[in-house]
Amino acid sequence: MSSPGRIETSHAWQALKKHQQQLSKSRISDLFAGDPDRFDNFSLQAPELLLDYSKHLINAETIELLVELANQAGVKAAITAMFAGHLINNTEQRPALHMALRSPLNQSPEEQAAHNTLAKIGAFVESIQSGEWTGYSGKPITDVINIGIGGSDLGPFMVYEALTPFHSSKIRCHFVSSADPSHLQQTLKGLNPENSLFVIASKTFTTLETLQNAQAAKQWLRPSLSYDKDLAKHFVAVSSSIEKATAFGINENNVFPIWDWVGGRYSLWSAIGLPIALGTSMQYFLDLLDGAHKMDEHFQNSSLESNMPVLMALLNIWYLNFFGVESQVILPYIQNLHLFPTFLQQLDMESLGKSVTKDGDPLKVKSGGLVWGSAGTNCQHSFHQLLHQGTHMVPADFIASASSTVDIAGSEEQHNHLLANCFAQSQALMQGKSLQDVEADLSGLGYSEAEITALAPHKVISGNKPSSTIMMKALTPSALGALIAVYEHKVYAQSVILGINAFDQWGVELGKALSKELFQAISSDEICDKFDASTNGLIKYTKKIL
Ligand code: F6P
Repeated sequence: MSSPGRIETSHAWQALKKHQQQLSKSRISDLFAGDPDRFDNFSLQAPELLLDYSKHLINAETIELLVELANQAGVKAAITAMFAGHLINNTEQRPALHMALRSPLNQSPEEQAAHNTLAKIGAFVESIQSGEWTGYSGKPITDVINIGIGGSDLGPFMVYEALTPFHSSKIRCHFVSSADPSHLQQTLKGLNPENSLFVIASKTFTTLETLQNAQAAKQWLRPSLSYDKDLAKHFVAVSSSIEKATAFGINENNVFPIWDWVGGRYSLWSAIGLPIALGTSMQYFLDLLDGAHKMDEHFQNSSLESNMPVLMALLNIWYLNFFGVESQVILPYIQNLHLFPTFLQQLDMESLGKSVTKDGDPLKVKSGGLVWGSAGTNCQHSFHQLLHQGTHMVPADFIASASSTVDIAGSEEQHNHLLANCFAQSQALMQGKSLQDVEADLSGLGYSEAEITALAPHKVISGNKPSSTIMMKALTPSALGALIAVYEHKVYAQSVILGINAFDQWGVELGKALSKELFQAISSDEICDKFDASTNGLIKYTKKIL
């Protein structure tokens, strides 16, 4: 086995380089023509999900070599190490044990802490949804406003949107994250302080945007209150710092814990998911955890060649490192998953955006790629043109459900149209349209030879663009749990193969530190010339002296 971080020297890596040179001359559609069982050979079922990876530029040898790569990188041992609680986040000396948050077992200290917190969440959800917990004027809570950012916002927000058909009729959730004051202001428009509850979600309770918004929320409530102590009826917190949350004015009993062993972008399963339970039901939140747990078991127990997250990681590495691809597009053909690409941006890019190995040596292979995307079918009318005819190769992940969660007249037919579009896009990306076919079409339409010569090149679609399709029966809480977990584990498997730490994010810290100094400069009356000319110029413009 090669040492971690030097995967490019491994036998499998070298063999994949050679293999790519041969295979890149193939067409995916020819690979289908040569193998009637290609779908069976290159698809896989795991709990709640089907992965069809047959529309990729791969053959049996590719998978053999990629799996060999995972073997040589020690992926199996790394999975065991993660579940055993080893300090795999080596720069912060922490384990990554988000799986304990969704484990039905109640044995390890982490599982016990998770179970106690779930009981606390359950009791709180019951008191809010039953109307037993009231605001300062004795009225029940109808609106929950989550104030958080990054993992303390994107996970619960994405899941709340995804589970729209499962929303509680009693509670509406809102999510405020940005430092831009208009985000909070616009959210609070139309809300009544009497019925509003703020969840201040910050693992560290030091994040500037969150603290600023939390203070502004206090100011919004204050004029309505006769007594300052009534504020406590409108604020709860999720944090690892009880001291900081209580110093803000939140009752100690209303602080829900989170721990160092849960990374921000892996935290929706913890009390950070409180708005999910409040906005749907405790049972749906538990179902979400259960779906994720089933995927944990699959990741932990399956062989590498039949391990869905591992295969997804390997396919990502295959294109990023052997085809020079830069990005990956995520295309959920489920409107309620419209925030899923944004959620994945943090999960994937904050985890895999690293340029040194775990040992601190320069990374000599490509790190994770750029992740982008949006929900279909809307995206077909915006950026799909580039996917079909641009010069880039952008591997796509299509995500779809066999049936709709909407049950109104005509919805089944509409859902079938949605699926037809989804399947048509992956087919079109693969097949393209040849010059010959374009010319035949145009001539059938009565175009002259000169017209055909002029127009045909514009209508040719090269095809041979790879994609995966992930399907579920329906977007239920447990299917969603499995979907999120499959990507979480994909990211970890990819980090292990690349030899990087998926659980730190030092790059984010620099901007935070610089913004403090810049805030002073922008707020002061003095002319500022201590930064670079661009920054100085922007500050002058801000102060209207330019
Ligand atoms: O964006 C950086 C980050 O540290 C994320 O990893 C985290 O999810 C987010 O900030 C919010 O942090 P906190 O929950 O401590 O406010």
